Amino acid sequence: MELDVLSVDAWAERVAGDLVERLRSEPTLRLCLPTGDTPAPVYAALATRLEAGEASLEHATVVLLDEWVGLDPDDPARCDGRLRRELLDRVSPGPAAFHRILVDELAPEEAAARHDEVAAGGLGLTLLGLGANGHVGFNEPGSTADGPTRVVTLEAGSGEAAVARYGAKRVPEAGITLGIARLLASDEIWLLVTGARKAEILDQALRGPMGPDVPASFLRSHHKLRVVADTAAAALVTRTP
Ligand code: PGA
Repeated sequence: MELDVLSVDAWAERVAGDLVERLRSEPTLRLCLPTGDTPAPVYAALATRLEAGEASLEHATVVLLDEWVGLDPDDPARCDGRLRRELLDRVSPGPAAFHRILVDELAPEEAAARHDEVAAGGLGLTLLGLGANGHVGFNEPGSTADGPTRVVTLEAGSGEAAVARYGAKRVPEAGITLGIARLLASDEIWLLVTGARKAEILDQALRGPMGPDVPASFLRSHHKLRVVADTAAAALVTRTP
């Protein structure tokens, strides 16, 4: 595991800059992307750089990490809409392909199965946020390292966050997420973590027992895990034991 701790001010620019480098060296990269408050400033910085011609998504493929079930297509909290607004619609050309999760077109189980097939085509770089409860994607506590891509019942806090933090018009009933097994099959993983409210859970994820209580802890078993945290989120991890 590699741990990069960056200043709050420099964090997003640095991650965006590293993504530019990756796209330049591997233009056909298959990227798995999350949404949420953590990656939003990275996407803003990345969009600016892509529009300045530093790199392009033209030959890259974007695979969405997760999606709510039960929100209208135009709900502001929808993950696909958010990724489009914050990144994909802001760059031209857009990616060669954007694989959203087909929650409007298919029954949830079918949409999950279809999305798993997409991810099975390979993920070169997976970006993840860290939930306050230790989830990655919607792999809530109780998820296992071999957990499949599936429909999940959300913890109350995760559903409520859709309304309180992301502006959802109703509490979503469930979510669809790539499973931990798929995430671990990615060639490389960057776990993005910012803010003091994530300090305790990041410490547990990196230094506590590896297990289903903190699903993000399973990422430690990956051979190419990079944790990119700001100083606020890394406050407990970097203290001497
Ligand atoms: P956040 O969400 O980036 O909005 O804090 C992270 C998560 O819950 O996965």
